[in-house]
This record gives sequence, structure tokens and C-alpha cells, in this order.
Amino acid sequence: MRNTCIFSFLLHVLPAICGNLLRLRPANFTQYDIFATWAEAEAICQGSNTEMVTIYDESENDFFKRGGGWIGLYRDSISDPWKWSEGNQVEIYSNWRDHGHGHENCGLKYRNEDTWRTDDCTKENLFMCYERLILVKENKTWEEALEHCRSLGDKVPADWNSWYDLATLMTEDDITYALQKAKPASSNDVWIGLRFLGHAWFWAGGEEVQNQDVPSCPAFRCGSLEKNSRAFKIRDCSERRNFFCYRRPKSI
Ligand SMILES: *[C@@H]1O[C@H](CO)[C@@H](O)[C@H](O)[C@H]1NC(C)=O
Ligand SMILES: *[C@@H]1O[C@H](CO)[C@@H](O)[C@H](O)[C@H]1NC(C)=O
Repeated sequence: MRNTCIFSFLLHVLPAICGNLLRLRPANFTQYDIFATWAEAEAICQGSNTEMVTIYDESENDFFKRGGGWIGLYRDSISDPWKWSEGNQVEIYSNWRDHGHGHENCGLKYRNEDTWRTDDCTKENLFMCYERLILVKENKTWEEALEHCRSLGDKVPADWNSWYDLATLMTEDDITYALQKAKPASSNDVWIGLRFLGHAWFWAGGEEVQNQDVPSCPAFRCGSLEKNSRAFKIRDCSERRNFFCYRRPKSI
């Protein structure tokens, strides 16, 4: 019993889900009303630790509907497959207006349309940058951070259909993404939604914590992600640090 308590400083709950797919949903996007080539837009997004828009399914596509401009799709030539700039992944879901058969090699959408168009990459268009985790660079206790995240839903457009919470990180890809996003944090680790209640760990957003290889008597009851490590850490909930909010699947 005593030993398990000591081990509780390091929480081994990962990997949680089979497969490594990113499970985080788009959480926010910024509409840039300035004109840029596709490559300039990509550089501007990356310069603020965000990415050009990447869309994995229809519900994600709905999320970006009100935005307009370049999205992260490109191909090296007409005979090459379309790829997303984020991770250079080959496009799986698509919603081309012209089946992606235009002669240009970059992807674009118009405001309030959900179909995509091809355009000449060197043309100047508006664009969007987005993120799947919102890093809040304020030091708050775990409870204060939870409250902050949950209040974000009131600040976004109603048609986003969005609720926010302290972030759930389910897969290896989620953690890889989070470690990249955590770089500008001013604290060494950042609160995530892990919370010990009763006899088990829970995610604030309601997902199940898989593989609970955890002690029944943890010294502390809140979980964080350390900037330089893939393992979650157990911390005193009253400590203050930066935190990650995410867009949770539905209202609770
Ligand atoms: C989304 O991003 C915009 C622009 O960076 C920012 O003003 C806004 O507060 C963000 N929204 C949320 C919910 O973080
Ligand atoms: C947050 O706390 C860290 C120490 O953990 C400190 O270095 C940093 O400046 C603080 N950030 C803010 C925004 O207060």
C-alpha cells in the first residue's frame, strides 16, 4: 500500500485508446482578414503556434463553416494526392466542390460554404488559423482553471455548438499535439482534466480513463502534463499553473 502511494507521483494511464489518432476536436479558429499567398498564410499560422485549418470529418467541416480563405490543403502537382499541411497527411475526408479536379494546387473555401475549391497557391486570399487545444497562460488552481475553461463556451459563436472543459488527452497523438502546444506555457507543467474522486481517476470532460494503473490513495488529486515528458503527473490541486482547455463532445 505504501509503495503504491509513492508511485502515485507518476501516473501511468497511457496509451489509453487503441490506435494513435488525434481525438481532439478543433477548438478555435482565427479568421485573418488580410491577403496572403498559401505559403505566407502557413507561415503566419505556424508563427503563432497554430496551424492552417485541417478537417478530418463532416462535423469538423461544419465548425469552420463561417470562416473563409485558404485551408491547409495542398498538393505538389496535379498528379499528386492532396495533403494537409499539418503533419503532411494525405487527405481522407474531403468535400470538394469540383472534386478537387481543378488545375490549381491549393485549397480554399468561401465564407458560409462548406465545400472547398482549388486555387493558385501564389494568389493572395484571406485565411484561417486554428487549434485543437487552447493554452491559457494564466496561473490558476485546478478548480479555477476548470471554471475558466467551462466559461469559454459563452464567448464563442452559438453556431459553433461548443462546450469547453479542462482538456482530455486520450491518445498518443493527443499528447504529441499537447506537448507542441505547451511550449509557450509560462509554468513547467499545465493542468489537464484529470481528477481523482472517490476511488478512481476521471476526466473533467466525462471520457473514461482507461487502464487505471493507479494507486487507491494518491498523495494528490489533480493531473498535469509536464512540458518535457509524455507521462502525466499528479499534483496538488491548489498549486497554480497554466492550463489546457479543449472543446468537449457535448454538454454535461
Ligand atoms: C479564439 O481565438 C481568438 C483569436 O486568437 C481569441 O480572441 C479568442 O479568445 C479565442 N477563443 C477562445 C474560446 O479561446
Ligand atoms: C506562472 O508561474 C510560473 C512559476 O511556476 C512563473 O514563472 C510564471 O511567470 C507565472 N506566469 C504568470 C503569467 O503569472
